[in-house]
Amino acid sequence: MPDEMEKLVSLCKRRGFIFPGSDIYGGLAGIYDYGPLGVLLKQNLKAAWWKRVVQEREDVVGLDAAILMNAKTWEASGHTKFMTDALVECKKCHHRFRADKVGETCPDCKKGTFTEPRPFNLMLKTTVGPVEDEGSATFLRPETAQGIFVNFHTVQQSSRQKLPFGIAQIGKAFRNEITPGNFTFRTREFEQMELEYFIKPGEDKKWYEYWIKERMKWFLDIGFKKQNLRLREYPKEELAHYSKGTTDIEYAFPFAKGGWDEIEGIANRTDFDLKNHQEASKQDLSYFDEETKERVLSYVIEPSAGVDRIMLALLIDAFEEVEGGRTETTESNKDTETVLRLHPSIAPIKVAVLPLSKKEPLTKLGRDIAAGLRKRWMIQYDETASIGRRYRRQDEIGTPYCVTVDFESVDDNKVTVRERDSMKQERVGIAEIGEYFKDKIG
Ligand code: GAP
Repeated sequence: MPDEMEKLVSLCKRRGFIFPGSDIYGGLAGIYDYGPLGVLLKQNLKAAWWKRVVQEREDVVGLDAAILMNAKTWEASGHTKFMTDALVECKKCHHRFRADKVGETCPDCKKGTFTEPRPFNLMLKTTVGPVEDEGSATFLRPETAQGIFVNFHTVQQSSRQKLPFGIAQIGKAFRNEITPGNFTFRTREFEQMELEYFIKPGEDKKWYEYWIKERMKWFLDIGFKKQNLRLREYPKEELAHYSKGTTDIEYAFPFAKGGWDEIEGIANRTDFDLKNHQEASKQDLSYFDEETKERVLSYVIEPSAGVDRIMLALLIDAFEEVEGGRTETTESNKDTETVLRLHPSIAPIKVAVLPLSKKEPLTKLGRDIAAGLRKRWMIQYDETASIGRRYRRQDEIGTPYCVTVDFESVDDNKVTVRERDSMKQERVGIAEIGEYFKDKIG
C-alpha cells in the first residue's frame, strides 16, 4: 500500500475509526469493524445521503428490506447466473486470484503459473431454518436493489407515488470477493446507499443524465475536492447484465491502477428487473397512469453508492500531514502534525470543550458548556495534557471547532473558539455559543 495509505490505516486503528474484524483471532479476510469515531462518521455520511436523496425531495420514499430474500429473487434478477468473476488458481501454491487482477506469474509464490479462468459466483450462500437442504438455501443479498424491485408495487401503492418517483434504501450487502483488499475499498461485507428511480419508458436518457449531475453535486457538497473526482462512462463490453448504460463517479485513490476507481455507479437498468420479477413471480408489477390511462412497466435509473468506500475516499481526501507542525505552540512546532479536514457536517465530533486547568471553577464551567452543546451535537470534553496537545488530538480526528475555557471565562462569560483549518481564534459569549455553532455546523 502507498505510504499515505499506511499512515491513514494506522490512524484509523489508533484513533478508533476502523480496524480489522475479529482481530484477536487473527481477523477474517475482507471484514472490518467500525470503532467509536468510525460509527459516527458513517452515520453522518448516511444521514447526509438520506437528507439529500429522501428528505429534501417530494418524489422519493424510503425502504428497509430484509437482507435475506427468497432464493427465487436471485434467479430472476440474473445474479445466480451472472454475478461471477473469472477466477484463476496458481498451479504451485494453489492460491486463488481474480483473473483480471493478476499477471502471468503468481504474486504470492512468484513461481507458479495459472489455471484457465473459470467463473466464480460472488454470492455468499446460507440456509434458512433447521433443515439444511437445497430448499432452505439462499444468499446474503449482494446488492440492496433487489429488495426495492420486489417491493415496487407495495411501496408505490402505499405511498401513492406517481411516475417519476424513487425508492431509497441503505443497508448491508455481501460479496464473496475473490481478492478483497486496499483496506475498506473492497470488502466482503459492506453497506450500500441505493436509489431506484422509476420513470416512464423513453425518459431514461433525460433522468440518467439528471442523476449523474445530482450525485456529483452531492459529493462536492459534502466536502470532496473537485480535482479528486471524475466521471467515467462504461464502454459496452464492461456493462453489467442489467445495464443499458453506466457512468461511475470515480475517486483518485492512491492505490488505484491508473489512478482512479469507482465510488458510485449510476446505471440505466431499463425495465430489466421489473420485467424479470414479473415473469418469475407471475405478479403484476406494472404501473397504471391515471391521466393517460396507460399501463407501463417502469424503467429505472439507479445511483448506487458504497458507504464504506465513500468513507475511505473521504478520509483520504481530508488527510493532511503538516511537516514541522503548525505554528500554534512551541510543542507542535517540533514534528509532523496530522489534520483531518473533514466537512463539519460529516466530522464525527463537532466540538471539543477544553478547560485550561484541571481544577474548579474551569472544569465545572467546561462540563456545563459541553452538556449544553451535547443536546445537539457529538461533543468531547478533554481536560488532560497541554492545550497544544489537546488541539492536535482534535485536529487528527477532524473536529472542526475547539472551545477553550480559560481563567477570564469565569469573569467575562466568554470562551475562545478555535477553528481547525485556519486556526483562527475568536471570543464568543457562553450564552450565544449554541446559536454560534448552529450557523457553522448546522
Ligand atoms: N445495485 C448496483 C450495484 O450493486 P455495484 O457497482 O456492484 O452496483 C455499487 O456496487 C457500489 O457499491 C460501488 O460503487 C461501491 O461503492 C460499492 N461496493 C461494491 N462492491 C463492494 C465491495 N466489495 N466492498 C466495498 N464496497 C463495494
